[in-house]
Amino acid sequence: MEELPRLLKEQYDLIIFSNVLNELFIGEDNRVSRRIPLVGNILRTLLADDGSCIIIEPALRETSRDLLTLRDGLLRERLHLFSPCMTGDRCPALDNPRDWCHEDLLWEPSERIREIDRRIGLRKDSLKFSYLVLRKDALTLAGVLPERSCRVVSEPLVSRGKIELFLCGPAGRRLVTRLDKERTAENEVFGELRRE
Ligand SMILES: C[S@@+](CC[C@H](N)C(=O)[O-])C[C@H]1O[C@@H](n2cnc3c(N)ncnc32)[C@H](O)[C@@H]1O
Repeated sequence: MEELPRLLKEQYDLIIFSNVLNELFIGEDNRVSRRIPLVGNILRTLLADDGSCIIIEPALRETSRDLLTLRDGLLRERLHLFSPCMTGDRCPALDNPRDWCHEDLLWEPSERIREIDRRIGLRKDSLKFSYLVLRKDALTLAGVLPERSCRVVSEPLVSRGKIELFLCGPAGRRLVTRLDKERTAENEVFGELRRE
């Protein structure tokens, strides 16, 4: 992979790293600090000025935290984060070693996948993964959404008399609570919010 910038002579509108970066320098303590310049160099050399790079990694704590650390490193390499984050600041999930960030999308498997799942006894109603979309220009998802927009970065945490969610956005990562006794028609939607 390191050779790609030397081997390829043109630029691309879309570059995808899908479940591959976690295999680079696997098990090495400095694996992420070796991945940052490698990916940075590939994108600087091969990504079109208005192109996008999608990085997808498994939604496990270690691989996701490595991706979040890579995120911060690539931002220092003056790449820009289009999505999913609503902020280009340092990733707040890295503050707590127990935290990580992933998507959980409901999906309808095709009949072929369903047949494979049946045979191997696997049930997969949703797709969990961690991802980033990076660009060279400053276009961002946050830029087209209302100011102070946040992402839901946790499952609903339902406990006695309240429901809580972790949100992440310009103000950082915050736990937001709605007490059942304060439930109204206006904040009804809070109960329907889900990890995106
Ligand atoms: C888990 S598979 C992912 C396959 C596919 N991209 C996906 O998302 O399903 C990891 C892939 O990374 C490739 N890979 C691992 N180290 C690599 C390296 N240094 N350079 C290029 N490819 C590498 C492996 O050959 C393998 O195809």
